[in-house]
Amino acid sequence: MDIPDVSPPRPSHGEQYSESDREHEQIPDVDGDALDDDDPSDSLKDQLSHDPLDRDHDHDHDELDSLPHPSENQDDDDDDDVKVSLHIEVRLRSNSTILYDTVRQTIGRYITDNFTTLETHSFVPGWQAIKFLENEVYSVYCAESGQATRLASISKVKLNIHVYELPAEGQDKISMLCANPMDPSELGHEAEPEDETGDVAASRIELPANRCEGIWESLIYEEGLKTKLLNYIYSSIVFAEHDVNPNLISWHRLVLLHGPPGTGKTSLCKALAQKVSIRLSGIYQKTELVEINSHSLFSKWFSESGKLVQGLFSKIEQIAENRDVFVLVLIDEVESLAGSRSTGASGGEPSDALRAVNSLLTALDKLRHHKNVLVLTTSNLTDSIDEAFLDRADIKQFIGLPSAEAVYWILGSCLRELISRKIVKGDGGVLLDYKDAVLVRDSSDAVGGGNMSLELLKVAEAAKGLSGRFLRRLPLLGHAQTGSCSSVGGGGGVSCWLFFECLLSVVESEQVQ
Ligand SMILES: Nc1ncnc2c1ncn2[C@@H]1O[C@H](COP(=O)(O)OP(=O)(O)OP(=O)(O)O)[C@@H](O)[C@H]1O
Ligand SMILES: [Mg+2]
Repeated sequence: MDIPDVSPPRPSHGEQYSESDREHEQIPDVDGDALDDDDPSDSLKDQLSHDPLDRDHDHDHDELDSLPHPSENQDDDDDDDVKVSLHIEVRLRSNSTILYDTVRQTIGRYITDNFTTLETHSFVPGWQAIKFLENEVYSVYCAESGQATRLASISKVKLNIHVYELPAEGQDKISMLCANPMDPSELGHEAEPEDETGDVAASRIELPANRCEGIWESLIYEEGLKTKLLNYIYSSIVFAEHDVNPNLISWHRLVLLHGPPGTGKTSLCKALAQKVSIRLSGIYQKTELVEINSHSLFSKWFSESGKLVQGLFSKIEQIAENRDVFVLVLIDEVESLAGSRSTGASGGEPSDALRAVNSLLTALDKLRHHKNVLVLTTSNLTDSIDEAFLDRADIKQFIGLPSAEAVYWILGSCLRELISRKIVKGDGGVLLDYKDAVLVRDSSDAVGGGNMSLELLKVAEAAKGLSGRFLRRLPLLGHAQTGSCSSVGGGGGVSCWLFFECLLSVVESEQVQ
C-alpha cells in the first residue's frame, strides 16, 4: 500500500481555511492513486480542451486573460504526449467571477514556475501570493498523478488542471424525482424536507455539491482501488466520445460495489460522482446525481413496482437527453430492486417483484445507449441479486473491511481531528507513517517520538476486521469511556494515553460481540 504523508501543507492564508479544509487536510488517502501510465483522460482532455462547452461555461465569467496555457509553454509536444497526468483541482469561491481558463493558465504557470516537485494528495501552497486570485480561488489541491510515488516531478508530468466551484454553503441544488408515470409534474421539483406526498422515488442533486466534498479523500482503501474505478469511468467516456461501435465493443455503464456493511460503498459512489463532476467540468456543462432509494421505492409502491421503475427511469432518460448534462444514477441497496428472479420464483415472491427486476433490466438496457450516463450501484447481498443484472455490471468491485494499515490511517485522521479540536491532548510529536510505526515497534530501540504512533498501531491491529463505519464512531465511544465529560466547556482535553487505553478497551469489547 502506497501510504501518503498525512500532513499536507496548510493553506497559508488563515481566512481561506475552513472546517472542510481541515478535514480535507487531515484525512490521508492511502489509495496510491497511481493512474495508469496511459491515462485515458489525457487524450480526452486534449481533444476536448477547446470544446465549445468549455467556453460556454466561461460565459458567466469575466474577460479571458491572455496568459498562455501552461501546456503551450512546453517546448516538446511529443514529449508532452507521453507524460503522465498530474491532476490539480482548483476550487473557486462560490461568488467567484473569474474565467476558468484564466485560473487554469495562472495556476499552471504558478506551478511550473515555482515547483520542481509537488506532493500528491495535498494542498498546493503559496498561490495566494497572486493577488488577483485571492478573492476568486478557495483552494488548490494536488490530487493523484500517473506516477507511483507520492512526489510528482513537474518536468515529468502533464498538468491537468480542473477548475470547479461549489454552491454557497447550504445551497446545494437538490430536487426530487417522483416515480409515478402518471404524475404530470415536471422532472424535478424543489426539494422540501417536509414533502410527504409519498411519490418521491429519487433525489436529484447537481454536482459538485458541498455535501459530497471531501468524501473521496476520507475514504481509505488498498492501493489503486479508487483510481481503478475512476479510470473505468474515464475509459468509458473516452470510448463514448470516440463513438466506438457498440456492436463491436459494448459495455453497460454499470458499476456494482459490493461487500460487507459499513465499508464505505455508498460513500464511495458519492465520492466518485463528485470526482467525475469535477473532472468533467470542462466537457459537460452540468453533472447530476440521481440517487434512488430502491428499497423505499419498492416498499412504497409494492403493487406497482414494475411500472414505477419504468416511470422513474424514463424520467432519468429524459434528463439524459440533454447532452450537456452528465448523469450519474446511484442505486443503493440494489438487491431490493434487482432481487434474483429464480429465488423469487421458488420462494413464492409476488410476480410484482419479477416485473420490477424486468423493468430495471429493460431500463438499464435503454440507458446504456446514452453516452452521458453512468449507473453506480451498491449491495451487501450479491448472492440474492439477479444474475442478468450481475452480468450487466461492467465492474463488480468487492469492497472489503479495512486492513490494519487502513485502520491505522482512518483512526489517525480521527485522532488529528480530536487533537486539533482540543478534545484530546497530543504528545507533541507527529504521527509516523504506518510502515515506520511498524518498524519502530519491531526494532529493539523503540524509543523516542513514535510513542503516540505505537499506541495507535496497537489499537489499529486490535481493530482489524471492524467496519469503517464502526471505526469512524470509535473515537466517540472511546472518549465517552474516558469519563471526561467534566471537560465540557473547558479544559485542554483528555490525555492521549488515557484515550488510547479507552479506544483499545472499546475495540476489545466490540471484537468479542
Ligand atoms: N474504508 C473506509 N475509509 C474511511 N471511512 C470509511 C471506510 N469505510 C467506511 N467508512 C465510513 O463509514 C461510514 C459508512 O459508510 P457507508 O454508508 O458508505 O457504508 P456502506 O458500505 O454503504 O454500508 P452499508 O452496506 O451498510 O450500506 C461512512 O462515514 C464512511 O466514511
Ligand atoms: Mg450503503
